[in-house]
Amino acid sequence: MKFFLFTYLFSIMIILFSIQSKSLSKSKEDGAIIYNDFCLRCHGPQGRSITKTIPPLNNSDFLLNLKKSISIIKFGAKTPIFVNGKEYSGNSMIAQGLDDEEISDVLNFIRNNWDNSNEIQVSAKDVNDIKEPL
Ligand code: HEC
Repeated sequence: MKFFLFTYLFSIMIILFSIQSKSLSKSKEDGAIIYNDFCLRCHGPQGRSITKTIPPLNNSDFLLNLKKSISIIKFGAKTPIFVNGKEYSGNSMIAQGLDDEEISDVLNFIRNNWDNSNEIQVSAKDVNDIKEPL
């Protein structure tokens, strides 16, 4: 009887553990891989502009607006945007076809890398909640 009770409680623990969302550090780790594959060629290894038409991600004030940050990665840039007071209107930032979880991971990475830090973790649900370009 004790054995069954133990197995039962143990299974419940495993189930609870597996439905818990990813930790911030795991999300950042996955986000770094996505960044290298999809973003690095334009935004560079240091998150600095590599050309005048591409805005920086390091110390970007645009990233302080979570909803707009989600929107630009999910749908691309639909209108000119301002980053640290400078206008960018190349419209060359197009959606990379990432799913909600991948977008949350890459955001957790860029919001917490280089000089950026943000304790609030972005979830796949936050990304799902943005249904149209902002
Ligand atoms: C083809 C080049 C290119 C690629 C690839 C690209 N971006 Fe961008 N990104 C831009 C440009 C250019 C802008 C400015 C808006 C515009 O002019 O289209 C921008 C703007 C942004 C912004 C808002 C402004 C800022 O600097 O904070 C974020 C956030 C961003 N990109 C994140 C990403 C992420 C994350 C990826 C990878 C999933 C990515 N970008 C891939 C070129 C690119």
